[in-house]
Amino acid sequence: GQPRGHVRPGSSGAAVQRAPQAAAPEEPGEDAEVNTGKKTFTEVQTERLEQAERTVLIKCPPKLNENKLLQYLSSHGNIKSHFFFENRGIHALIEFSEKNSIASLQDAIGVPSAAEYHVVPFKSRLFTFMLKNPVSQAAEETPLHLSPQFHIPVKDLIQKLCHADSISSQMYILLNEYQLTDENIKLRYLVCSLVRDFAHAYFPDSTVKPFGSSVNTFGKLGCDVDMFLDFRDTQKHAAKMKKGPFEMEYQMKRLPSERLATQKILSVIGDCLDNFGPGCVSVQKILNARCPLVKFSHQPTGFQCDLSVSNSIAIKSSELLYIYGCLDSRVRALVFSVRCWARVHGLTNSIPGTWITNFSLTMMVMFFLQRRSPPIIPTLDQLKELADQKDKLVIGGYDCSFVSDLSKIKRTNNTETLDVLLGDFFEYYGNFDFRRNSINLRKGKEVNKPESSPLYIWNPFEQDLNISKNVNQPQLEKFVAMARESAWILRKEEKAQQMINKEPWGLAALLIPFGKSNSNKMKNRMKGIGSETIRNLLDSLKLNNPNSLQKAVGK
Ligand code: CTP
Ligand code: MG
Repeated sequence: GQPRGHVRPGSSGAAVQRAPQAAAPEEPGEDAEVNTGKKTFTEVQTERLEQAERTVLIKCPPKLNENKLLQYLSSHGNIKSHFFFENRGIHALIEFSEKNSIASLQDAIGVPSAAEYHVVPFKSRLFTFMLKNPVSQAAEETPLHLSPQFHIPVKDLIQKLCHADSISSQMYILLNEYQLTDENIKLRYLVCSLVRDFAHAYFPDSTVKPFGSSVNTFGKLGCDVDMFLDFRDTQKHAAKMKKGPFEMEYQMKRLPSERLATQKILSVIGDCLDNFGPGCVSVQKILNARCPLVKFSHQPTGFQCDLSVSNSIAIKSSELLYIYGCLDSRVRALVFSVRCWARVHGLTNSIPGTWITNFSLTMMVMFFLQRRSPPIIPTLDQLKELADQKDKLVIGGYDCSFVSDLSKIKRTNNTETLDVLLGDFFEYYGNFDFRRNSINLRKGKEVNKPESSPLYIWNPFEQDLNISKNVNQPQLEKFVAMARESAWILRKEEKAQQMINKEPWGLAALLIPFGKSNSNKMKNRMKGIGSETIRNLLDSLKLNNPNSLQKAVGK
């Protein structure tokens, strides 16, 4: 029951070895076999949200006996799964088999004494576990396995990549190190479920669901949690009313626009989180944005969260990417490598700006995969043809229907290796006619740009929106220059020689800021973008990653 691709987290070895075979020419059947059991996007979401409701988060003392804690909690019900992680102290995520175990536990636990602070009496599913007699009980401590919630630094990744035997296995190693783990996904759904508890106070029918990279199979450890408040049940009632000779409807407050309603709802929920939400800090209401949202940091889980109100189109793009990510193991491997490459070279940034976003980059990779011969993934129009009655959906006049059942989609015969695909990706975009053409995933074709934005990627569902409207000409040029450079590095590569010299090769060579390379030749070709070096250094500072700075300066 995991919304993941083929590569499992945790014990890296097995997964890394298994995945590349899936794309190997001699075993075309294996991929299909792995996929037959794949759940639909909605099934995964429903299952995960239900699981999150049976889950609590407990802050633990640094010294602890795991069995004793579990024993203590088991008196309230069976524990289905649990793990520990470090985030401002040790935390345990506990998943009970039954939801009512939580009520039983909540009945038995105390409220902090109000000696120093006055506590807001909101009872959440975040608890603190304490030892009554720390000195004697600490003696019984057992070593805890802590599940990592962040990926390794780029410097360490590069080391690992150097030991691989092909670019393809390098790409699977990167995927395995960076992708969300099952544990991290549980935490993401839990934080949504905790926010939902607040939303329920006002809107008992509402749910809070994650979207974006937390659920589209392209999330990396450390990425934000995008979540939205969903009132879909309210719309279901509207359908029921149509039957019979009578009608009844709720009396509801009417506002002049949907936008105003969204702003008002987000405003009160934002205040609620700010005033009463345990561990919710830096709550920021950004209500005047195109898509109004509340940003906050959730300290107990360590997530940066963006809460918005139901945006059906964004959810459909998450589902579309989920399908693409599940179809072929090469898809996620290529996206993770390209995103990591873009981050290292300052092409993407966590601060919004004129940079290409991860979302746009992912769409560019999808388009490239549609353009292979034979194509590796189908176009959106092809997915629409496979849609059945229950997949039909029109949002705001746009037909957003596409197949949800993965088993109905025919797998590709394309057997190209990731070694080839990575090099060709850079070559393809290094030579793309961005001046004239735009990227259209619905058609899977380059089409004339409808307007003059430097980079035009059609929103697959709102056909007159450009998802990369924010990108300016210099950023696009930088992307093209870096893509060309990378294609060149991969082509000229003497892997054997570089391995002997213990130099980073293949993907590893692409993850080092180019401006700092020792090769004079390379410096010459980088002439004209010398200031990039300085910008790369600044970017590595922004990355908040001392290793990449050290790497950039210290070579
Ligand atoms: N989205 C969109 N159009 C955009 C930007 C975003 O439809 N121009 C939707 C996409 O569904 C996207 C989601 O909003 O997945 C969240 O946006 P964002 O957080 O920017 O992208 P992620 O895919 O979550 O990637 P990241 O890991 O960088 O957060
Ligand atoms: Mg996101």
